[in-house]
Amino acid sequence: MPGQMKMENESDQITVDLFVLGGGPGGYFAAGLAGQEGLNVVLAEKNKIGGVCLNEGCIPSKSLLHSAKICSHSKDALEYGITGAPLVLDQKAVIKRKNKIVNTLVQGVKMQMRQGHVTVLEDEARVVGRSNGRIHLSVSDQLYTATNLIIATGSIPIIPPIQGIDDGIAKGYLLTNREALDLQVIPQRLVVIGGGAIGLEMASYYHSAGSDVIVIEMLDHIGGAIDRTIAALLQRSLEKKGIQIALGAKAMEIHEDRVIYEQNGETFTTQSDFVLLSVGRRPSIENNGFETIQLYTDKGRIVTDRQCRTNIPGVYAIGDVNGRCMLAHVAYREAHVAVNTILSRRDTMRYDAVPSVIYTQPEVASVGMTEEEAKLKGIAYKKISIPFQYSGRFMAETAGESSLCQMLFSADQKYLIGCHLLGPYTSEFITIASVFIEKEMTVDEMKEIIFPHPTVSEVLREAIFQLRATN
Ligand code: NAI
Repeated sequence: MPGQMKMENESDQITVDLFVLGGGPGGYFAAGLAGQEGLNVVLAEKNKIGGVCLNEGCIPSKSLLHSAKICSHSKDALEYGITGAPLVLDQKAVIKRKNKIVNTLVQGVKMQMRQGHVTVLEDEARVVGRSNGRIHLSVSDQLYTATNLIIATGSIPIIPPIQGIDDGIAKGYLLTNREALDLQVIPQRLVVIGGGAIGLEMASYYHSAGSDVIVIEMLDHIGGAIDRTIAALLQRSLEKKGIQIALGAKAMEIHEDRVIYEQNGETFTTQSDFVLLSVGRRPSIENNGFETIQLYTDKGRIVTDRQCRTNIPGVYAIGDVNGRCMLAHVAYREAHVAVNTILSRRDTMRYDAVPSVIYTQPEVASVGMTEEEAKLKGIAYKKISIPFQYSGRFMAETAGESSLCQMLFSADQKYLIGCHLLGPYTSEFITIASVFIEKEMTVDEMKEIIFPHPTVSEVLREAIFQLRATN
């Protein structure tokens, strides 16, 4: 029977309770949790422990963006009574600092694995088959047999068939997030293809660092699925800073010194010395031997249920590889759900209260339903929109930044169904709105929560108090 393999010499195999394939946030968190619970766990990572998030995604980009924030604040220094600015960003020093942070965190994860008694194999693992309800894997000629397998192989950048892409990769002027976070020079002219999370964060960074930046976005708005009013405000704010944004625009050709794109049926040429390709990512499912166990995939992702189970008993898929919601924090929670399921504890993923953030300046943070989504689904709602000027701290610390707090409540004004924020620190307090949604708190219960004063988070309270009492 295909996929049912007979092991020749069972004694040559190492038997484990759980094999984790991939050492990103989903993989290492799952391995750590299972190790803590006393399971015998092996984790294999072919690149660097910490995955894309820690090595070439979330963390390095936040390190760069923080340097950019200091630099761009210095441009408004006079407004705050400070002279001697602006400051100039030193790219080599910024990258060096970023590498130091990444190395420290990677060492931290390795220590966590040791403390959790997880065996880490820094090597490529392949699934080689399944027999007697167990999964077989091979790592550097050593066979492993696992009662459970958690697949956490992540995602890779989508490379669309745009003319000139291969040449750009070969010659090094075409970047993905990985190279963009390691550039030793500041591009004079950076063309960003794709105005989603990666595109906007990197456009913000390189613009603050001194590049002339244009974002080419296919849709009629930036920021992907974010609230449209907030997308428009963010666009205006980025344009005011000097970032050029072309909407409804499609990159057609990439050359060493220019990009040709189409917008409203017209062809434009824009100069460039580097091009960042940020048009999305896709699950990493190839070359792992998944076909040897007939793992069910659809549209390039491993299909999972709300316990992160695949079609094969004992095999789970968490994080970007299941394509449900490609965010590191979702992978953490899926890791928790998968390990609980392995331990026969009831637990279920909920994907309707997942917060998301774009770390531009100002930040965008959202959770739950957008107005567009509610309209599309015919869901009646009550909208409260207020600027952050309601917060004293915002007024004290900000020099005229755009801001908006847009909250959607159920039509009976009892429950929060969506919260969309543009402004400082929003990445840090969107969780409050997530809890309101996740725990299905009533507006009256939300009103009982005491917010520290003065904080920017008080805009949430201000918005909630615009609703009348329901009891
Ligand atoms: P994305 O899916 O967020 O955005 C890609 C954008 O490219 C879309 O707006 C799309 O319309 C546009 N596009 C596609 N093809 C195009 C073309 N040929 N010409 C012009 N525009 C085109 O993908 P992104 O930014 O690459 O991010 C990848 C993943 O990483 C996402 O899942 C994202 O959520 C995640 N991520 C999350 C971050 C965060 O939470 N702060 C930060 C960075 C990435």
